[in-house]
Amino acid sequence: MTLGVLLWACPARAAETLANEDCLSCHTEVDEKAFAASAHGSENCVSCHSDVKSLEHPEELAPVDCASCHESEAMAIAGSVHGKVQAGGGVSVSCKDCHGSHEVLSPASPASRMHRFNVAKTCSSCHEDIGAQYLRSVHGKAMLAGKFEAPVCTDCHGEHGIRSHLDPKSRVHATQLSEKVCAQCHAAERITSKFGMSADRIRTYFDSYHGLAGRAGSASVANCASCHGAHDILPSSDPASSVHKTNLVKTCGECHPGASERLTEGTIHLAPSPDKDRKIYYLTVFYIAFIVLVVGSMLAHNLLDLRRKVKEHYEQRHAQSHHARFNTNERVQHLVLAVTFSLLAYSGFALKFPDAWWAWPIVGLDPTHEWRGRIHRWAALLFTALCVYHVGYILLTPRGRGQLRSMLPRVRDARDLVQMVRHNLGHPVRRPRLARYTYVEKLEYWALAWGTVIMVVTGTVLVFENISLRYLPKWLIDAATVVHYYEAILATLAILIWHLYFTVFDPEHYPMNWSMKHGRTHEERTDEEPPPPDKSPRA
Ligand code: HEC
Ligand code: HEC
Ligand code: HEC
Ligand code: HEC
Ligand code: HEC
Ligand code: HEC
Ligand code: HEC
Ligand code: HEC
Ligand code: HEC
Repeated sequence: MTLGVLLWACPARAAETLANEDCLSCHTEVDEKAFAASAHGSENCVSCHSDVKSLEHPEELAPVDCASCHESEAMAIAGSVHGKVQAGGGVSVSCKDCHGSHEVLSPASPASRMHRFNVAKTCSSCHEDIGAQYLRSVHGKAMLAGKFEAPVCTDCHGEHGIRSHLDPKSRVHATQLSEKVCAQCHAAERITSKFGMSADRIRTYFDSYHGLAGRAGSASVANCASCHGAHDILPSSDPASSVHKTNLVKTCGECHPGASERLTEGTIHLAPSPDKDRKIYYLTVFYIAFIVLVVGSMLAHNLLDLRRKVKEHYEQRHAQSHHARFNTNERVQHLVLAVTFSLLAYSGFALKFPDAWWAWPIVGLDPTHEWRGRIHRWAALLFTALCVYHVGYILLTPRGRGQLRSMLPRVRDARDLVQMVRHNLGHPVRRPRLARYTYVEKLEYWALAWGTVIMVVTGTVLVFENISLRYLPKWLIDAATVVHYYEAILATLAILIWHLYFTVFDPEHYPMNWSMKHGRTHEERTDEEPPPPDKSPRA
């Protein structure tokens, strides 16, 4: 494209004096109207026929080089089966074979040779037999009937990057076809429900012996096309279909020599239900019930045990706890923080990793992500409200100001950190005596404060994307997306590693540091400045 623009702008262009009308006055064979209506209607003739330097041009001209403006398309063609033929000096398939020369239109235009409904015709000019077969198939007929969802040649083969079906990188290669080609429609609820087809064909295939071996990489097992064909696919009810009852012995026999009626009796797309494949269905139901019963009883037994032990532990710790740490207000703030933070992390990461096992409860129930998005936004609103409240609390109430003062970083914290690490490394130094808030809590508190500012700012930019797009450059919005994601990872990992260790896994506290529940700690801590007396009622 750039080269064309440069040529256009270059004042020394040899053929500058030659206007399109000059050319057309002799070349009446060129359809002027079609050219004017084409995607290149505003191009100069000489931008393609660049070796026409004057009116006395050579009769033999070099072929038009579309690549000079459409570099990426040309690169893709060069790597494709059509480009390789060209390079080998055999039959050449060039841009104009598919797009035409003067009547090139955007593929979106219904008159384009590359419009969905014209693709088969254009490809058939060379692949005649396949084109004819395709038009008789269930897909071809649907395309002729004007159904947009019906696959055309390029849906299965690709466009500029078409590869031989024997090339393992081709989407129609035996190892890829089922998942990359047929699944894009036959696993899509939108399409299967619209055409009244079963939505389970892909899943049932992948659960079958052929599918399992195929997924493991075997190219010799049956893929969708081995049984159904590729260009001649017909419904199984059609006697001409390769999967019609009467043809199965032959179809399976291709790979299972001597296949008998027996082999073909079983269902291929096994989807047991009370009316189909009943024996298999009830066997499955029995096993699922059995698993739920056995594992469920084990779980219940151990949960009872756990409950008892946790309760004893809690009571024991409660009895020992006398140092007031958090009042009810602060503990409620912590609870709201814990709930909104977990909701935000879960609903946020489920967007990024919809295929992860832990995401299915939300993605499975809500494939359109509507509820996931809503939960994320409401939790974010609550989270922000909490932050505003918290800032008010620590600045405006005497108790809050006291907490804030104890939370301010001191030189002593750095000393404690060094001393703690040395102590843990086995140096003969004492464990530091801990203040009301140690460097552990301070680090965590200020990291959280920092992360909150980042997440609220970037999150706001993303929620109001429409407005942001109007006032901010696009790269800033992309930057906000990246920062929102990585800061979320940082915060979540920090919580998992720093917070959970000190509140749960630290053997001094295991299985739980209860101070956020009953507000007290059993640890002896020195206070540089005792916090002001708490006037709120104790929990
Ligand atoms: C004075 C008449 C005249 C004008 C003006 C003219 N041409 Fe030609 N052009 C011819 C003739 C004559 C031939 C060779 C005979 C033929 O048509 O095969 C030719 C051949 C060509 C060919 C090769 C055709 C082929 O079959 O391979 C191209 C391409 C071409 N001209 C493009 C242009 C372009 C572009 C312009 C305007 C910049 C232009 N011509 C202006 C007369 C003209
Ligand atoms: C987008 C590029 C493009 C532009 C612009 C373009 N042509 Fe062509 N033209 C082609 C292609 C492609 C061919 C087929 C031959 C080839 O591949 O070299 C062709 C062929 C021709 C031929 C040979 C006869 C034919 O129709 O096949 C003539 C004459 C011609 N062009 C004249 C013109 C004139 C006159 C204009 C300006 C009104 C023009 N071309 C603009 C791409 C272009
Ligand atoms: C085998 C046939 C074939 C050949 C050869 C071919 N194209 Fe295409 N081209 C297509 C199809 C199919 C599409 C896409 C149709 C669609 O988007 O639905 C397309 C789309 C395009 C588009 C529009 C891209 C877009 O994103 O909208 C351009 C530009 C293009 N081709 C240029 C070229 C150029 C330049 C060459 C030669 C280097 C070329 N094509 C060769 C089949 C072909
Ligand atoms: C001088 C530069 C130039 C050359 C040479 C050129 N094109 Fe284009 N082509 C353009 C421009 C400019 C557009 C319009 C792009 C747009 O509308 O976005 C375009 C548009 C197209 C489109 C439609 C893309 C779409 O999505 O709407 C196709 C297809 C296409 N060209 C194919 C070709 C083919 C095939 C050739 C060779 C015969 C060719 N072009 C040669 C500049 C060129
Ligand atoms: C539903 C998907 C699908 C559609 C639509 C489709 N093909 Fe194919 N095509 C395949 C598969 C799969 C293979 C490989 C078949 C095999 O393994 O024997 C193939 C193979 C081919 C081959 C090479 C094998 C041979 O027999 O020469 C060509 C050429 C081909 N297709 C062209 C086309 C053309 C042209 C169209 C449109 C008229 C088309 N295909 C439509 C799936 C498709
Ligand atoms: C100008 C003629 C021509 C056009 C148009 C054309 N092809 Fe081809 N195609 C060929 C030739 C020649 C080969 C290489 C010989 C072969 O392997 O059959 C080929 C090879 C292929 C192959 C690989 C065959 C294999 O062994 O798997 C596929 C697939 C294919 N074409 C699909 C298409 C599709 C889809 C279109 C339309 C978008 C198309 N072709 C348009 C001529 C053409
Ligand atoms: C681009 C979407 C698309 C792709 C890709 C596609 N199909 Fe289809 N298929 C359809 C649609 C749509 C229908 C329904 C047509 C109708 O009923 O008019 C259909 C119908 C069928 C039918 C007949 C179903 C019935 O109940 O009558 C079979 C069998 C079939 N496809 C198999 C395949 C196989 C095998 C592949 C892969 C090689 C494949 N399809 C690829 C969209 C697709
Ligand atoms: C081992 C052979 C075999 C394989 C592999 C296979 N099928 Fe089938 N398929 C059949 C048979 C036989 C039927 C008809 C009986 C039935 O419904 O189980 C059928 C039925 C269907 C139907 C229902 C429409 C109809 O014609 O009755 C669709 C759609 C379908 N298959 C798509 C696929 C897709 C997509 C794949 C690949 C993921 C695939 N099949 C793999 C043998 C196979
Ligand atoms: C493209 C070749 C191919 C086609 C067509 C094919 N199969 Fe198979 N099938 C295989 C291969 C290879 C295996 C061995 C899989 C493995 O490695 O476990 C297999 C395995 C099986 C098995 C599992 C038992 C065994 O022998 O390992 C059954 C049952 C079976 N096929 C039934 C069928 C039926 C029924 C059809 C026709 C509807 C069919 N197959 C069509 C290639 C094919």
